[in-house]
Amino acid sequence: MWENLILDVQDGLAFVTLNRTKQLNALNEKLAVELGECADKIIQEQDKIDVVIIAGSGDRAFVAGADIGEMLRMDPQQAIAFARLLHQTNTKLDSLPQPVIASINGFCLGGGNELAIACDIRIASDKSKFGQPEVGLGITPGAGGTQRLPRLIGPGRAKYMDYTGEIIDAKTALEWGLIDILVPEAELKDKVLAVAKKIQSQRRFAVRQVKQCIRLGKDAALEAALEIEVQAFSMCFTHPDRTEAMGAFVNKSKK
Ligand code: HXC
Repeated sequence: MWENLILDVQDGLAFVTLNRTKQLNALNEKLAVELGECADKIIQEQDKIDVVIIAGSGDRAFVAGADIGEMLRMDPQQAIAFARLLHQTNTKLDSLPQPVIASINGFCLGGGNELAIACDIRIASDKSKFGQPEVGLGITPGAGGTQRLPRLIGPGRAKYMDYTGEIIDAKTALEWGLIDILVPEAELKDKVLAVAKKIQSQRRFAVRQVKQCIRLGKDAALEAALEIEVQAFSMCFTHPDRTEAMGAFVNKSKK
């Protein structure tokens, strides 16, 4: 269906593979558009899809950044359009009803790191490498590296990554909170699947409420954010999952 990515839905899990293996899955405009279309499809199929897993094809990279050859030919107006396109795509993924896991094996650079940090959970192999090398190319990170990144790992470490362009290893990324789980390369697929299935085994409505609470609350003032939490909690009391799950617990305890 798409030229640069594959969507494979199995047993309620959507596997999205960014498929520009030779270019280390560099994000060109076409891939970014296709990723947005893929996200739309995942929204349409939300009754069938519980968790989304995004990975790069091959074993060398998640995404080695935006496509440098394409950016070389851009004028300032085209650069605005490209940055907006990547923001739209990342925000679409961030706001999907389903949790999104980035499965990272290899280079996760520039626009690739920015895509990964728009996902809900990052699980990476020990051979992964992370960086925002844009300043070395004479540009700023344009898809969240100056905004989402400091919100995730703090301004000091984000500035370190953005100013130096240094590539950090997976152990450092874990220490800095850039990734959430670190595993040996051979265990990556199993770990990602186990986490996805663990989420899938929970009550779907509640999981989705949690995602929106954290997403909407993280940039709000605490009082407003806590009210978002109260409303989500109360919404769960309108859903049959709650009566069913609590009822099952109570009835089991009585036996
Ligand atoms: C286009 C890329 C690419 C990229 C790799 N390739 N990264 N093409 N854009 N970002 C291509 C190479 O040209 C090469 O193609 C093939 O992939 C394999 O890469 P090599 O360089 O031969 O591999 P290696 O020597 O192992 O080095 C790997 C690497 C290096 C360290 C990841 O490729 C690299 O530095 N890439 C650029 C990383 C980067 O600067 N990313 C940030 C981009 S700016 P051929 O045809 O020669 O085999 C950005 C901005 C986002 O992301 C914000 C936009 C709004």
